[in-house]
Amino acid sequence: MLTRDTLRYRRIPLTHGSGAMPALGFGTLIPDPLATAQATRTALEAGFRHFDCAERYRNEHAVGDAMKEAFSAGRIKREHVFVTTKLWNNNHRPERVRSAFEASRQRLQLDYVDCYLIHTPFAFRPGDEQDPRDGQGQVVYDPGVTLSETWSALEHLVDEGRCKSIGLSDVSLEKVQEIFEAARIKPAVVQVESHPYLPQWDLLNFCRRHGIVMLAFAALGHGMEPKLLENPVITTIAQRVHKTPAQVALAWAVQRGTALLTTSTKPRQIQENFEVSTLPEDAMQEIRDKIAERVRFNTVVETGVPGFIPQGR
Ligand SMILES: NC(=O)c1ccc[n+]([C@@H]2O[C@H](COP(=O)([O-])OP(=O)(O)OC[C@H]3O[C@@H](n4cnc5c(N)ncnc54)[C@H](OP(=O)(O)O)[C@@H]3O)[C@@H](O)[C@H]2O)c1
Repeated sequence: MLTRDTLRYRRIPLTHGSGAMPALGFGTLIPDPLATAQATRTALEAGFRHFDCAERYRNEHAVGDAMKEAFSAGRIKREHVFVTTKLWNNNHRPERVRSAFEASRQRLQLDYVDCYLIHTPFAFRPGDEQDPRDGQGQVVYDPGVTLSETWSALEHLVDEGRCKSIGLSDVSLEKVQEIFEAARIKPAVVQVESHPYLPQWDLLNFCRRHGIVMLAFAALGHGMEPKLLENPVITTIAQRVHKTPAQVALAWAVQRGTALLTTSTKPRQIQENFEVSTLPEDAMQEIRDKIAERVRFNTVVETGVPGFIPQGR
């Protein structure tokens, strides 16, 4: 008898929040709002029930439009979709957090947000400018606020029932530990770059021990060189299991216990990225043992400047 593979439907219950995060997530870092709305529609139709947004992407309204259409038509229920959005660096001052959150929630046209993340641990000059620069073109940071102070402001959003969980993004293991130890409401989710070239096993082990969901972005290597999807270990496994290289990389991520984000504007690829199924254990081990190359594609973790968003946008 054939048993149906359910990997694509895996949901990870939140220990430090309510609800569960579908392991397969769709990222909305798409520059054009029309393309964002269309990709969100396609992703919903393909089966994605987890969407990753951010005020910094400047397109929350487009994601919101597409979700609203699906909810209003009765095709999908709001409670079956997990929506994350993120506080940007210019809003780290505690007195700015609630209004930044509310603005995101309204653009998304949602009554509540499932998860609210601090996008990076770097505070920029408070104000409306997302990319404040000095006369020399250098980022203007804000030395007047700590990450713990911003975290406390997020805890209040949970207290008020505005979001169901909170978390961090673009952080090192040390920063996660620091916030985890000090927090009244623990981080439910930590979003970082992760793929076979950057597995972050130490961070994943910490997250597993403490009931935190590690959410991997750039799960396909962001299409950058060296191309993960052309790595011979990945392509050989793909041939062997009759899946595409993307499906191998995504299954690996889910099976090792992370949630993940991929992005595409191409319907065929969006569908492909949802149709993952379980890899045999020897393939999991091969990816772990045979891919020794280490590559970080996004330098946001070093500076708070978003590596995948062109400057000035
Ligand atoms: N926290 C942070 O600072 C941070 C930073 C970066 C990203 N993120 C989040 O993570 C999400 C995903 O990141 P990402 O864009 O780097 O993800 P990714 O899926 O690793 O990379 C996207 C690239 O892969 C290509 N692609 C997608 N599916 C494919 C497939 N099946 N076969 C071949 N190529 C494929 C896309 O091409 P096409 O466009 O041509 O389809 C695109 O060039 C973002 O949207 C955002 O939500 C967060």
